[in-house]
Amino acid sequence: MGDLFMIWVAMGICCATLSASAWSVSNFLMTGPQAYLTYTTSVALGAQSGIEECKFQFVWERWNCPENALQLSTHNRLRSATRETSFIHAISSAGVMYTITKNCSMGDFENCGCDESKNGKTGGPGWIWGGCSDNVEFGERISKLFVDSLEKGKDTRALMNLHNNRAGRLAVRATMKRTCKCHGISGSCSVQTCWLQLADFRETGDYLKAKYDRALKIEMDKRQLRTGNSAEGRRAPTEPFLPSAEAELVFLEESPDYCVHNSSLSFRGTEGRECLQKRPGPARGEQRSCRHLCTECGLQVEERRSEVTRSCHCKFQWCCTVKCDQCRQVVSKYFCTGPQAKGRAQ
Ligand SMILES: *[C@@H]1O[C@H](CO)[C@@H](O)[C@H](O)[C@H]1NC(C)=O
Ligand SMILES: *[C@@H]1O[C@H](CO)[C@@H](O)[C@H](O)[C@H]1NC(C)=O
Repeated sequence: MGDLFMIWVAMGICCATLSASAWSVSNFLMTGPQAYLTYTTSVALGAQSGIEECKFQFVWERWNCPENALQLSTHNRLRSATRETSFIHAISSAGVMYTITKNCSMGDFENCGCDESKNGKTGGPGWIWGGCSDNVEFGERISKLFVDSLEKGKDTRALMNLHNNRAGRLAVRATMKRTCKCHGISGSCSVQTCWLQLADFRETGDYLKAKYDRALKIEMDKRQLRTGNSAEGRRAPTEPFLPSAEAELVFLEESPDYCVHNSSLSFRGTEGRECLQKRPGPARGEQRSCRHLCTECGLQVEERRSEVTRSCHCKFQWCCTVKCDQCRQVVSKYFCTGPQAKGRAQ
């Protein structure tokens, strides 16, 4: 519980806010403090699952996701409003919605379950709604309630965060899948019943990563941004958050140079990072990671070899053992080290 508590302190949900939202939440969803705690725990788990997905998505990028939700707080010290900030908000909000929705379908909460509202109705040619559709409405509501309550301000950054939180929740919906089951005489499949199911959270992560790649920059008055002015009474800040771009990630500031160490952003740069080389893996970003992380940042790629012992030449012996030799093998790993020596090319 200690860790979870820390997450909520870090996310600014603690104490004053907690009691405030506990109130409003219990009014329409819950039955008491125990139920509230149930949601809180699941919400915190969901936020952390968002962070885990973020780490996966950015593992071969110059910028890495924060290790835990502790660094998530953009509300206190780190009031950045970059493309990366937008991703963190979207994926956390999506993670919360996803987890709560799953909880619902698993019957973890007394007051919610599958969405059966459309069951029995025709969905399309040859199929009707049936079975257990994931209750995204519920997950969406809880996510909105908890995650959006972190934004207390009314300035542009707050609006941006709220927009991206929402885009995250829309991503969960957008990646849902229709799953069907055949009926009819001897499996003729003349009629199908279908329900909507959450995709793997990885798919939601991939979807949001693509949104990140083409996130929209909102042009703002710099002075207004810096002072974090209240947007009340002004028309400008609400205008850029176009309804037509509701599913897109938006940001306000260009990202700093993530190659270099920046103590004020507590970002350590790419020096010392491991990269992958000569690996026939199809995974996105891996192929060019040494170039992207090291070379293009003015760093060198250093190969470090180490010897490992592995089982090899294994033989099956009748009956029934496997005998192996121990082989020594040299493995190479690659790291970004020190600046390229500029003087050498004389
Ligand atoms: C909600 O789901 C998560 C895993 O997806 C699980 O760890 C947690 O215990 C669930 N919450 C409840 C109240 O069962
Ligand atoms: C660190 O980041 C801040 C904020 O983006 C920027 O103003 C500053 O120039 C950066 N410092 C370095 C050394 O790049």
